[in-house]
Amino acid sequence: MYRDFWRFYWSADTKYTIHSPFVFDFIKNVLEDKRLFYAYHEVETVRKFLLTQHQEISVTDYGAGSKFSKGNKRTIQQIAKTALSSPSFCRLLFKLTKHYKPKSILEMGTSLGISTAYLRMAALNADFVTLEGCPNIADHASKVFKRLKLKEIDQITGPFSETLDQALKTLKQVDLVFFDGNHRFEPTVEYFEKVLPYAHDQSIFIFDDIYWSEEMSSAWENLKQRPEVTLSIDLFSMGILFFRKDFSQKQHFKLTPWYWKPWRMGFLK
Ligand SMILES: C[S@@+](CC[C@H](N)C(=O)[O-])C[C@H]1O[C@@H](n2cnc3c(N)ncnc32)[C@H](O)[C@@H]1O
Repeated sequence: MYRDFWRFYWSADTKYTIHSPFVFDFIKNVLEDKRLFYAYHEVETVRKFLLTQHQEISVTDYGAGSKFSKGNKRTIQQIAKTALSSPSFCRLLFKLTKHYKPKSILEMGTSLGISTAYLRMAALNADFVTLEGCPNIADHASKVFKRLKLKEIDQITGPFSETLDQALKTLKQVDLVFFDGNHRFEPTVEYFEKVLPYAHDQSIFIFDDIYWSEEMSSAWENLKQRPEVTLSIDLFSMGILFFRKDFSQKQHFKLTPWYWKPWRMGFLK
């Protein structure tokens, strides 16, 4: 992972070495947007609360989604510590959603609902379906939604193999999909293929943890080469696929904010 990060870091572009107007806009208005939204504070207060909860629940383990805990009993605190996206990842998710204004969102992997809350708060009017396999975890996510007064989040509980079709039928088309469930090669590629017919020119697919394992890195490499994908953005913590047809050629970028690499302002390219 560290080696992957340094490899990523040295090869990543900043806004000073990018020529694509779309990608420049992404960096300026998503990656480097430093505004502090009130939603961040609200959701992080709930995350802090979850981190104090020692209540034990039985969990249905879906394998590669949980690298850290073994056995089927876990405390809410353990789940909050190990399964949830970090605050910085969630802020990125929020900014991206706010900028591109999706009208329909599908999340695969609700867990305790923290990323769901960020997505919902960034797109209050979007049709929103979130999928979680474990009923006890999904129960706690709905408590999180009540605490945050988040409405109209369609939670579907059960294995993705049984719930994804229903979610796609409900949404009819997907503007933004957050894949954050099973972090293995085959399921990741399989879910991509199932969701793809519901995507369109402006859809955005976000993958968490693309460097989490060799399988996830291979899945990312495989998906970004698909003919339907016209642009891929690798931010190390997440991979984003775009399908817009107005790009003259397929392009892949690794990006960091310029202040991570202040010396890379165009002179070295
Ligand atoms: C990494 S967690 C999601 C974290 C959440 N998106 C966040 O950032 O706050 C992944 C979740 O997906 C669920 N999951 C993994 N594989 C699944 C499958 N095949 N079917 C249903 N749920 C699954 C797990 O139960 C787990 O709660």
